[in-house]
Amino acid sequence: MAISTNKGSPDGLGKRKEESIQSERLAFTGRIAASIAHEIRNPLGNVSMCVQLLRGAFTEDSPWAKHIDVIIRNTERINFLITELLNCARPPKLNIQPHDIHEILEGILDFIKTKTGSQQIEVSKGFNSQIPPINVDKEQIGRAFSNVILNAVESMPDGGKMTIITEIEEDFLVVKIQDTGEGIPEDDIIMIFDPFFSTKSSGTGLGLSTTYGIIASHDGTITVESERGNGTVFTISLPVR
Ligand SMILES: Nc1ncnc2c1ncn2[C@@H]1O[C@H](COP(=O)(O)OP(=O)(O)OP(=O)(O)O)[C@@H](O)[C@H]1O
Ligand SMILES: [Mg+2]
Repeated sequence: MAISTNKGSPDGLGKRKEESIQSERLAFTGRIAASIAHEIRNPLGNVSMCVQLLRGAFTEDSPWAKHIDVIIRNTERINFLITELLNCARPPKLNIQPHDIHEILEGILDFIKTKTGSQQIEVSKGFNSQIPPINVDKEQIGRAFSNVILNAVESMPDGGKMTIITEIEEDFLVVKIQDTGEGIPEDDIIMIFDPFFSTKSSGTGLGLSTTYGIIASHDGTITVESERGNGTVFTISLPVR
């Protein structure tokens, strides 16, 4: 069975209502997350500074040095998570310029080609050559596509096929990123855009919530359809203007 975040009635009303509930929920979660993250940042900065000073008092061979290094690594990790959370709750001001979307996608594919190669993932591109330059923040949109593409790659640890299709539908650029991976269980699909939802041992769970924020800030939409055992397709639509 195919499932989607925006299942709705045929007239689209149900769909719009569900999308608006979803974005209100995200906006609320985002505000709470941003205030918590903000409050944690200052005391964390103090811990980080003091522990760096403390580390300077011990030589490399001191048995205490390795414990302090663990504290330093973990404060850095917390700082990274907090920064990511703040970014996804309040995406930075956009620098909108016309860009070739295929160049952005090719750049990402080039960056991960060692990974796709070693995992034996076949990459198939169905790029529509008629697509005009699209007004986007290159860095942010690149990040949004990377998150979805990396998830596709991570869903196929034993190989598979990733298909990326671009097309124009009315006034929208539509990018479909499809994988033949494990799929997303029906109970999970409603949570995948929530901050910190992850089923991976080393995932932060911020990839898709950041992506959602970036796409929404470009007045676009992102939807997902997945079938357990048969793979997943994410569809990102961005206005052509
Ligand atoms: N293509 C996919 N196939 C299967 N599951 C997916 C796919 N994309 C997302 N998911 C599910 O959604 C969850 C959330 O994805 P998200 O990118 O937000 O976090 P993550 O990948 O776990 O960690 P990270 O923050 O490092 O990206 C994943 O843990 C996974 O369970
Ligand atoms: Mg991810």
